Formats: sequence, structure tokens, C-alpha cells
Amino acid sequence: MPFVSEPVSPLDPAALQAVSDAAVAAAAAAVSLADLAARRRQWTGDQSLIAQANRAIKDLPGPDRAQAGKNMGAVKRRVNEAFETRRGELEEAAASDKLSQEKVDVTWPTDRRPPGARHPLELLQEKIADVFTAMGWTIAEGPELEAEWLNFDALNFGPDHPARQMQDTFFVDPPGSGLVLRTHTSPVQARVLLSQGAPCYVAVPGKVFRTDELDATHTPVFHQVEGLAVDKRLTMADLRGTLDHLADAMFGGGATTRLRPSFFPFTEPSAEMDLACFACGGRDPECRTCGGSGWIEWGGCGMVDPNVLVACGVDPTEYQGFAFGMGIERTLMFRAGVQDMHDMVEGDARFSRNYGVGI
Ligand code: DAH
Repeated sequence: MPFVSEPVSPLDPAALQAVSDAAVAAAAAAVSLADLAARRRQWTGDQSLIAQANRAIKDLPGPDRAQAGKNMGAVKRRVNEAFETRRGELEEAAASDKLSQEKVDVTWPTDRRPPGARHPLELLQEKIADVFTAMGWTIAEGPELEAEWLNFDALNFGPDHPARQMQDTFFVDPPGSGLVLRTHTSPVQARVLLSQGAPCYVAVPGKVFRTDELDATHTPVFHQVEGLAVDKRLTMADLRGTLDHLADAMFGGGATTRLRPSFFPFTEPSAEMDLACFACGGRDPECRTCGGSGWIEWGGCGMVDPNVLVACGVDPTEYQGFAFGMGIERTLMFRAGVQDMHDMVEGDARFSRNYGVGI
């Protein structure tokens, strides 16, 4: 770098050339933005040779001032340009340094994902399981892909029973595979009896499948809780007491229930358990929830048909049983006033957060 320390005359082209060369070289040699700023102060600041030369213009005789001004203008332009150019280069280098240093570790855990929530249907199944375990029952599970024999035959469905037909049941390829997506949780009754025998008290929450279109009150995939108690001297009164206890636990004390005669192949006698309509309490003949009847169907139940006990190796002269299968979606609808099945299946976390436990 040319050495320049003497005051420079704004009329001395050689000296001006030397000082601007020195300043340009200083700019080009800057190693960082901070270094560049310091060098800029040194070469263009108030105390710099260039500033001093500039200040000297006013002391020159009038005729020389224009030339001196021109000279200084050219010097300052050149020097400024050199500093700006170097600034651009250093900024670019700093940016690319930063980019190459800032590696993104995609495996690093992050809390930026929107908070989810456990689905209220899952939570409700756990609550229901708690009600039964508190009574000393056990909780069982069965496969969703089920043997047709367990789904139907073991439960006393004749070969021509309408529930077997295509409009209800998802049959599994190849034809004749003997497999279906279970249409109810009842086959687990047969599984439990076959594997554990009597006596038994089991509750089975789980997913079931039917070829229904999704609408406000139907969904092709839904949930039931099955109950099966087999013991000596069980009666319909035990069934009633158990379901009333479940209703109290689900809907608060004082939920009104009724048993209405019905038919299921695997129970005799069979009944439907209804709940007094939560929307109108039976007072609105136009009620859209209960259709004006004042009652809403909660699930099916009955005394286990002796044919089922026999098919599962239990002696019906020694043991009786009661069983039930309640809809979990319906239970959630009554508990939480959910009106539309779409809300339960669409998986919008905002819905779940209202009822579920945030995670
Ligand atoms: N499985 C029946 C259904 O899905 C419900 C049911 C009725 C279950 C009576 C039972 C029962 O255990 O005893 O419609």
C-alpha cells in the first residue's frame, strides 16, 4: 500500500492519485465489515488526508478552487466506490458464511407443530372401561378382521340372516375367505367364552364396520362397547342394574332409561335400551333428536341365547348370561350434545380439543 502521510494539496494530481490509490487499496484489503468501517473512517473521516485536502479548497485563491473541487470530487467518488464495492463483497461473503454454518437438523425435536388432542371417542372408551373395571369386570379385545363364523354363526345368526347380506357387511376378498370386517363387537363374546369359559364378566370396547354412507347419524366405521356376564343365577334384573349404572356413570345420576322388547339372534329375551331424549326430555313432539318419541336408542341387550352358550362350550343348564352392545358415538352425542357424526370422523383437532385431552 503506498505510504501517504503528508497533507495533500487538492491541486496536486500526483499526491491525489497516491492518496486515492492508498484508500482504494485499504478498502480492498478489509477483512470484515467492522474492519471496513474502521478503514473507511481512517480514509474518509474528518481527520483523513482526503477530508483535510477537501477543507483546504476554501483557502485556495479563487481561480484554483474550481479545479481543486473537481479533483476532490473525483477522488471521493473513486474512494467511496471502492469502499461500497468491498462492502458488497463482504456482505455477500458474510451471508454465504452464515448459510453454510446454519445447518438445519431435521431430526431436532420441535414444538412448532400445532397442538393435537386425544380423540373424545378414544377417551370415552377408556372411561367406559374404567366403569367396568371398577365393578371387577375385565376388559377384552378382539380383531377387527373377524371370522365370519364368530361374527355370525357362533351368535346364532342363521345362514340366511339379512345382516349377512352385502348391504350390511364388508366381506373380505377372496370370496369365500370366511373373513369379514366385524359388524359388531359381539363376536368377542364367543372368543371370550371359548377361551375362558364361565363364569366371566367382560367388557369389550372397539371399532366395528358396516356398509353405511357417512351422514349426520351414520358412519361406516363406528364403535361399540360389548358387555358379557355369564354366571349362575343371572337374571334380566342384573342386566338392567348394570346398564343403569353405566347410564349414571355416562350421563349423570337420574338419566332415565327404559328397556323395550326387541330381537337379536344371540339373546332371548332381547331388548333395546333407550334413554330419555336429552334434547327435549320428551316434551317436544317435533324434536329432531328423538323424532318426537321422547326416547333415543342407546343399544341392544338381552339374556344370552342358550344356543350361543352351547356353541361356545358352556352348559346352559348350569349358567345363564346377559349381554349388551351400546353405541359409543351415540354415548358421546348424548354426553356432549354432538349433533353431527361428521364432526367425529373428520379428525379436526379443534373438535377434539373441546372434549379431549390436549397433547
Ligand atoms: N351386536 C348388536 C348390534 O350391533 C348389539 C347387541 C345386542 C349386543 C344385544 C349384545 C346384545 O351383546 O346382547 O346391533
